[in-house]
Amino acid sequence: MNPFLINNYKSPKYFCDRKTETADLLKNIKSKTDTAFFAQRRIGKTALIRHVFYLLKKEKLVSIYLDIYATLDLGDFTNQLANAIYTAFPPKQTVGRRFLEAIKSLRPIITLDEITGTPQLSLDITKTAQFERTMPQLLKFLDSENVQVIIAIDEFQQILTYPEKNVEAILRTVMQTLKNVHFIFCGSNQKMMHQIFNNAKRPFYASTKNVNLQRIDRKEYSKFIKSHFQNNKIDIEADAIELMLDLTDCHTYYTQRLCHEVFDAKVEKVVTDTVLQSLNKILTDNENIYFQYRNLITSNQWKLLKALSIEEKVFQPYSKKFLKDHDLGSSAIVKRSLEALVEKELVYYHSGIEEPYYEVYDKFLMRWMQYK
Ligand SMILES: Nc1ncnc2c1ncn2[C@@H]1O[C@H](COP(=O)(O)OP(=O)(O)OP(=O)(O)O)[C@@H](O)[C@H]1O
Ligand SMILES: [Mg+2]
Repeated sequence: MNPFLINNYKSPKYFCDRKTETADLLKNIKSKTDTAFFAQRRIGKTALIRHVFYLLKKEKLVSIYLDIYATLDLGDFTNQLANAIYTAFPPKQTVGRRFLEAIKSLRPIITLDEITGTPQLSLDITKTAQFERTMPQLLKFLDSENVQVIIAIDEFQQILTYPEKNVEAILRTVMQTLKNVHFIFCGSNQKMMHQIFNNAKRPFYASTKNVNLQRIDRKEYSKFIKSHFQNNKIDIEADAIELMLDLTDCHTYYTQRLCHEVFDAKVEKVVTDTVLQSLNKILTDNENIYFQYRNLITSNQWKLLKALSIEEKVFQPYSKKFLKDHDLGSSAIVKRSLEALVEKELVYYHSGIEEPYYEVYDKFLMRWMQYK
């Protein structure tokens, strides 16, 4: 089995570091404090939550995970929540039976998921007003069961796109009455998460603790990589590990993906050439996606993306030197393109640090642009 996972969480063995973040989350959960955190795409938000839930398995605590990325309105949200509760408390258990009893008037419908075959619950209600009542009702039911429940809502910023503008208020109001149910909110859109949690005029302001999720410590990652190769009797040069972490800038997903590919190369000894060949394979596999990007953005944006790729980190995108070196035209053009690229999540703005900078979000796209 390839020990470098690229799309899920398995167990602590395959999970690198995150000791501080894990401890912070566990502490918040134990002290019944709600947590909210924003972090970059593909840095390991979901895996961190999964890891914490894995560690809590032995405790007398029920963990519920909800990814609301695909939800479009409060109705979807409520149905996801109801289904998650149903999955966490199957009807074989007393709580599960009581849950079905409690929501009987909402006419729950159970269907089997076509692909996985697992039962899915949805509520037969359609009016917004009903959902406005139902969501608090579901949470109050959980609260009344005298078990500690922790609900993680992933991609939480999605609620800002709902047509109902009062979801934050409804949720926050009911949260204040809950004693046994606590939350982890997590999201990858910086601007939107900021809007929800750091705006003094909004319901969630100053109501949660934060966890700071950045790149995994380079030394820890290096040890992790080395041990997994060695455990599988593959020799790996220190230089090859360093090169991998350079190429991916230590960003979790890209590092995992590259290690995965290198591991699959099935060589006896990994050297820097193995790494470059593996990267090349990934870039070739992704090439048609990159060409599609080109059709989706303007030529000015493409040019800027290329310039950012070459520079890797850009602290002053409007400086004369940057504009001139890459023949980008006026700073007004760059400003417009940059805003569009950030909006499209092709470029990421690292703020909240001493020297903020811009970088291409996708590290493989960045490498590909450099080589083209
Ligand atoms: N600490 C870790 N050690 C090893 N692999 C990890 C770690 N954290 C995450 N991963 C792996 O990296 C990949 C990306 O992680 P994950 O999906 O958790 O990121 P995310 O921040 O939730 O991404 P997205 O923004 O796309 O939702 C996953 O395949 C996961 O298995
Ligand atoms: Mg995620």
